Amino acid sequence: MTSMTMTPAAPTNVDRDWVHWAIGRIEADFTRSADTHLLPVPIPALPDVALYLKDESSHPTGSLKHRLARSLFLYALSNGWLHRGCPVIEASSGSTAVSEAYFARMLGLPFIAVVPANTAPEKIAAIADLGGGAHPVKDARTIYTVAEDLARTSGGHYMDQFTFAERATDWRGNNNIAESIYSQMAREPHPVPAWIVCGAGTGGTSATIGRFARYHRHTTQVCVADPAASVFHRHWHDRTVDTCEGPTSLIEGIGRPRVEPSFVPGVVDRMVVVSDAQSIAAARAISRRMGKLCGGSTGTNIWACAQLASEMARAGQAGSIVSILCDSGERYRSSYFDDVWIARQGLDLAPHEIAIERFLDHGTLD
Ligand SMILES: Cc1ncc(COP(=O)(O)O)c(C=O)c1O
Repeated sequence: MTSMTMTPAAPTNVDRDWVHWAIGRIEADFTRSADTHLLPVPIPALPDVALYLKDESSHPTGSLKHRLARSLFLYALSNGWLHRGCPVIEASSGSTAVSEAYFARMLGLPFIAVVPANTAPEKIAAIADLGGGAHPVKDARTIYTVAEDLARTSGGHYMDQFTFAERATDWRGNNNIAESIYSQMAREPHPVPAWIVCGAGTGGTSATIGRFARYHRHTTQVCVADPAASVFHRHWHDRTVDTCEGPTSLIEGIGRPRVEPSFVPGVVDRMVVVSDAQSIAAARAISRRMGKLCGGSTGTNIWACAQLASEMARAGQAGSIVSILCDSGERYRSSYFDDVWIARQGLDLAPHEIAIERFLDHGTLD
């Protein structure tokens, strides 16, 4: 538990210089940064269906949340919500917090992340390495109110990714993840993907991709791969359902017990429900194939991609599927890649690992 003492004075316009300086710092960092790679995932058994992974783990802060954190800081600065010395507070499953700690340090702002107590210790360490603090809470459902309270008592700003992710990200372009995917697919045999598959935590990524595809009049369909314990697929089928009880998913970053404001079901064409065991089995299998550890939500994506690719092959449909390698599996060595931890969760991965290996080798899940 980290305590905040100083309460900076209310911002005045003279702080405009500081806002300009801060935006300049972020833009300079962006100019120094390269875009992330688009990696083909060979499925020799399916010559007409091409699969790709957008490797967001290669961002400076190791996940797709690097883009979001940059957008949230620029949005807050441009709204006059941040000023010199102002503490920044966020509610996060960890990935966003790591990325926001990076930008907060760049601007000399104190940063605190309110995180579920079972967040991977590797992520807590990464937040601390970037000068941020973590405020663990037992009940993951309280992260929002605890963050709001902390912002109020510290005179800081609650960044609130769940509300502002879909607003802070420019869905028309401006190097959002969708624009990057389409430009990197331009010379591929099927440059306009039949499907783009992603998960939903805030819902910002699926909202951005869905809006971009429609705005640019692409025929691409968007599929959200959702953990079984999540409310998103229930809400997509029945808009009157906006919360779900019971244990939350073990897959960090995706799947929520309540429908988040940044989830835009209208731009999602399909939802695929994936069990935690299937996600972790697929994360392990794709890590072996790619020669690098991939996080759990990447496994969730791969399981949904396998289902769609098998269906396309059965229907004789040629085309490409693009999905996201959301973060590195290095952060989950003590969980998804630890057999003792898996046993403690009572998960049996074997049948799912066999199924996903069968897909990667022979192009069919079943
Ligand atoms: C590892 C990981 N994958 C996927 C997502 C989902 O992204 P979004 O919040 O844009 O829906 C998150 C979100 O926190 C994440 O941390």
